[in-house]
Amino acid sequence: MKKCVLFVDDEQNMLDALRRMLRPMTVEWDMHFARSGDEALMVLAQEPVDVVITDLRMPGMDGGELLKVIQESRPDVVRIVLSGHADYNMVMKSVKQAHQFLTKPCSTDVIREALEKAYNLRRILTNEAAKAIVSRIESLPSVPDLYVRVVEEVRRKDSSLGRIGAIISEDPAMTAAILKMVNSSFFGFFRPVTNPVQAVNLLGTEIVKGLILSAHLFSVFDFSRFPRYSMDVLVDHSLATGRIASAIAKFEGMPPEMVDECFIAGMLHDIGKLILASRFEKEYLAVLRTVQRENRTVWEVEREVLKTSHAELGAYLLGLWNLPGAVVDALAFHHEPVLAGVGRDFSPLTAVHAANALEHELRIINREYAQHPPDPEYLEHMGLTGHLPQWKELCAEIYEPRE
Ligand SMILES: [Fe+2]
Ligand SMILES: [Fe+2]
Repeated sequence: MKKCVLFVDDEQNMLDALRRMLRPMTVEWDMHFARSGDEALMVLAQEPVDVVITDLRMPGMDGGELLKVIQESRPDVVRIVLSGHADYNMVMKSVKQAHQFLTKPCSTDVIREALEKAYNLRRILTNEAAKAIVSRIESLPSVPDLYVRVVEEVRRKDSSLGRIGAIISEDPAMTAAILKMVNSSFFGFFRPVTNPVQAVNLLGTEIVKGLILSAHLFSVFDFSRFPRYSMDVLVDHSLATGRIASAIAKFEGMPPEMVDECFIAGMLHDIGKLILASRFEKEYLAVLRTVQRENRTVWEVEREVLKTSHAELGAYLLGLWNLPGAVVDALAFHHEPVLAGVGRDFSPLTAVHAANALEHELRIINREYAQHPPDPEYLEHMGLTGHLPQWKELCAEIYEPRE
């Protein structure tokens, strides 16, 4: 079946241009065009729309209002904003309703990529039960506005690290959360990092963007009702996995961009647990009880009880937020990397799979939880079996207490 996209813009010229520009994509995509929010809702009532791409400034119902209605009535539809730079204030207003933001003018490639990613997201939710879980979550957390502002700043031709740091400083709660992570032992800085400008200079913008997402997600979920589950332990496990994954990628001679992606994917790899625990409290308490009683892995019991796991859900969320495909894949398959296909090159998936397993093995987060070493079959296929002892040495350096 073809995938289905709906474009909404009050300017006929804009819709005509999109129609012309995207004609080659009609082999895979059914395309619909609407000139107002009302018209869009009529299309949505009749067509199996997968993705909506809307303008913001429109007479009558504006883009933000339209997305709000869609969020409530069709939570499974991916919601993307395509707006002009001048609409910045409106972007901020609609930030809670949109999964992604694209800026006009927008090339075919950018739109194609956004649509491909939306399509791939469907692939992550492999079964109907997983899709049902996502649609039962009436709203997945929206991308933090601080993240959107930092991404905007990074995209500017004259962007500066100082200005990025200054933008972060305007949000005291986020600043505190980020500095707490940066100053944890996993980063290994000898002197405390005291402000976001310093953090951006030391870590680079990609890592700081990952920290913003992580700080946001850890702050929006309430774990207080899970007496046996510690948020601090999960934050520590996540940071350590990020550090180990990036250390492994560096050791394997990967380029700096991939090393950063490994960190981000490692840090966010278990984020789906937060979604499950906060939105399916009763079921998740049952999952954790079974894990402890029967000494099994969390993701296997999640699959049994909820028919999906934190891996797919976390990947789905980051996919909605338009994180790189390699990061999304690393989350989706971090327990079962062979499912992503063997014989591929080293990727953030390789690093995160190994880092997660090593982190569990070396630190023993919870004695009742089953251990799950890196998959020997996968490592063998990747030709990496012999690297494992060296990777463990890297971990030892990360855990070593500093003076
Ligand atoms: Fe996991
Ligand atoms: Fe994990």
